[in-house]
Amino acid sequence: MTDRYAVLGHPIGHSKSPLIHSLFARATGQDIAYTAIEAPLDGFADTVRRFRAEGGRGVNVSLPFKLQAFQMATESGERARLAGAANCLKFDGERILADNFDGVGLVNDLQRNLACPLAGKRVLLLGAGGATRGALLPIAAERPALLAVANRTPDKAHALRHDFAAHTPLQTGGYETLTGQAFDVVINATSTGLSQDALPLPDGLFAPGALAYEMVYGKGLTPFLRQAQAAGVSRVADGVGMLVEQAAEAFLWWRGVRPDTRAVLEQLTVPLV
Ligand code: ATR
Repeated sequence: MTDRYAVLGHPIGHSKSPLIHSLFARATGQDIAYTAIEAPLDGFADTVRRFRAEGGRGVNVSLPFKLQAFQMATESGERARLAGAANCLKFDGERILADNFDGVGLVNDLQRNLACPLAGKRVLLLGAGGATRGALLPIAAERPALLAVANRTPDKAHALRHDFAAHTPLQTGGYETLTGQAFDVVINATSTGLSQDALPLPDGLFAPGALAYEMVYGKGLTPFLRQAQAAGVSRVADGVGMLVEQAAEAFLWWRGVRPDTRAVLEQLTVPLV
């Protein structure tokens, strides 16, 4: 029997997840159907319950429901607990299991697809919202020399330092505190990739050979990537690889089979111009 999965979000029309999972399913011979469902803003839990009652086996969760997904789970992995958010649910009888594969998807994209090992590197995350929260633990596990978080509202960055203190030391502060520091990997986890606002990045932020990574995908050269290029950075990437890699982790969790991501990534990658 065909097993059913879905991605839930609001809006959801732009989602590439159905395409990615159907390509994974074809390549691995898994019999699944995967659809996109737009849940009403006040009806996420009801939509999940209905999908589950109709035989759904799991869902991916997109904005703005990742917090609610975590809250409705009966069991969650450490990554989801520390992020306070889940991007993936698995249904097993009465159990609702939650995990968060965004951070591991980012790390796999950086290290495997972009050939950028994080061990010993100076890594900077811009932003202190859910996207950064989800990324911190998997990045820290790679043992960077320095892991820093800068945010417009410094107190939100400091709160992350406190929350993650048992797992990793963090340098936190406002953008002005970055003056005089250089980083090997700079990741934009703010929502400015969508709003097209520029960030107040000081000169000299990018070390020679640095990689600039925009978590948003499909927006071409965002203000952050343009700022990086203007500062002489030649290695720039958007989040399409993170999207494909988190999907592969979800597929593995649901189906017990790891799909190869390279062909799917090639199909989805749009040149950054
Ligand atoms: P997400 O879950 O996608 O991370 P979020 O929790 O709303 O979304 O967080 C958005 C992040 O983008 C925050 O770090 C926010 O900074 P503040 O905490 O100061 O609000 C950041 N952000 C959004 N617009 C920004 C802008 N114009 N300049 C700088 N940072 C911005």
